[in-house]
Amino acid sequence: MSTVTAGSPAAGSFCIPRSRRRINMPRFTMTVRSSNAVSVGVAPILTKFKHDCATPLPLLRHVADAMATDMRAGLAVDGGSDLKMILSYVDTLPTGNERGLFYALDLGGTNFRVLRVQLGGKEERVIATEFDQVSIPQELMFGTSEELFDFIASGLAKFAEKEGGKFHLPPGRKREIGFTFSFPVRQTSIDSGILIKWTKGFAVSGTAGRDVVACLNEAMDRQGLDMRVSALVNDTVGTLAGARYWDDDVMVAVILGTGTNACYVERMDAIPKLQGHVSPSGRTIVNTEWGAFSNGLPLTVFDRDMDAASINPGEQIFEKTISGMYLGEIVRRVLLKMAAEGSLFGESVPEKLSTPFVLRTPDLSAMQQDTSDDLNAVGSILYNIAGVESNLSARKIVLEVCDTIVMRGGRLAGAGIVGILQKMEEDSTGLIFGKRTVVAMDGGLYEHYPQYKRYLKDAVKEILGLEKSKNVVIEHTKDGSGIGASLLAASNSKYEHDF
Ligand code: BGC
Repeated sequence: MSTVTAGSPAAGSFCIPRSRRRINMPRFTMTVRSSNAVSVGVAPILTKFKHDCATPLPLLRHVADAMATDMRAGLAVDGGSDLKMILSYVDTLPTGNERGLFYALDLGGTNFRVLRVQLGGKEERVIATEFDQVSIPQELMFGTSEELFDFIASGLAKFAEKEGGKFHLPPGRKREIGFTFSFPVRQTSIDSGILIKWTKGFAVSGTAGRDVVACLNEAMDRQGLDMRVSALVNDTVGTLAGARYWDDDVMVAVILGTGTNACYVERMDAIPKLQGHVSPSGRTIVNTEWGAFSNGLPLTVFDRDMDAASINPGEQIFEKTISGMYLGEIVRRVLLKMAAEGSLFGESVPEKLSTPFVLRTPDLSAMQQDTSDDLNAVGSILYNIAGVESNLSARKIVLEVCDTIVMRGGRLAGAGIVGILQKMEEDSTGLIFGKRTVVAMDGGLYEHYPQYKRYLKDAVKEILGLEKSKNVVIEHTKDGSGIGASLLAASNSKYEHDF
């Protein structure tokens, strides 16, 4: 691992580390096949696909309303809806007064990150940060719990060894960690929580049903690493905390990366299932786990087939419709059918196109940025990634398929955000639409896919109308989650009153 100072990675990044990219983009220009015609067999597939993916305003309104209704049902009782509405035990958000050296550990997608930050209170704020990032070897995503946590603890140990310079730990203290663990966890306190299930393609044995902090502690013991987890947080919660450190109007945080999720600031008296937990502030952060939402989504046969073939069929349907891990795969499935039944790429079906997940969401984004007349970049990507030779009309169809899936994803994500804001506004009139309200956003899909971002923002405007939407600010908070987790480690430090 190489240590990087300042700058920061995006939470839930959907970018593939270079080392894991299958093929590099060539610089040569593809020859466009002589005929520009594409078999007429493709047209009906495209028409039906677009029809099934359509997200007209009434559908978006329905999704927003259903999101709000499911939130209430999940807050009423555990298991009351698809949305788990998990209590984060984060009842106070960073104030700016946090001081000292804190670590953050982030496990949630294709990468694992460690970060240290020296906080200097209201005047000096973030004095220094350093982070390391490594990609998680594929085999660890399917290995045992011990193997995964040993890998994390050893990365943390190597990183901690390099501490120096502007980072100071007062004598007699343990290093404290904010552990961002971006999977559905039933929190049992601010520093413990049971993994409900893995998502995003992870299938590690022996972790579900266990306290993930205990798993990490055991691995740190095996490494002889004497550090303490003082906050266990979801990446959305870390992002909200990190963004709130700079801006008091942040009320919601959303991740749109490999996976997706949202959390928000809730009133304690709006959580009927809450028993015996008192928050001095009267508020707490709720992790919706909205990836599991499924109500009223416009799904196609391609979504259903992808879901059936996944390692978690029937689960995470919203996530499978809108997040970075899946958009490329849905497009691949559509192109495969078009190739097989409509001769999209000529008489034969390109072999590589049959490989699941060969087409990645970053490839879709790269293709959609091609504005050249002959769509050369589209041709090169199709050739490199899927072994496909294409003529201009085939390339145009590929772009239409990408745009359809990205438009559906972005617009549904926008409807989800409106659902959350609507629910908050219904409970506290004027709190959301009557003043500036910030939605902190992180994740590679939102950051690196301009069309997705535009569709999302436009949908929010379309559903809310100009008047209400002008108070809603969607703000990209790059790596809010890492700093946020360390800030929460600071506010839950066992030494907090020692300064
Ligand atoms: C997980 C969430 C996480 C989201 C974004 C989802 O798959 O269930 O806990 O916040 O991905 O990383």
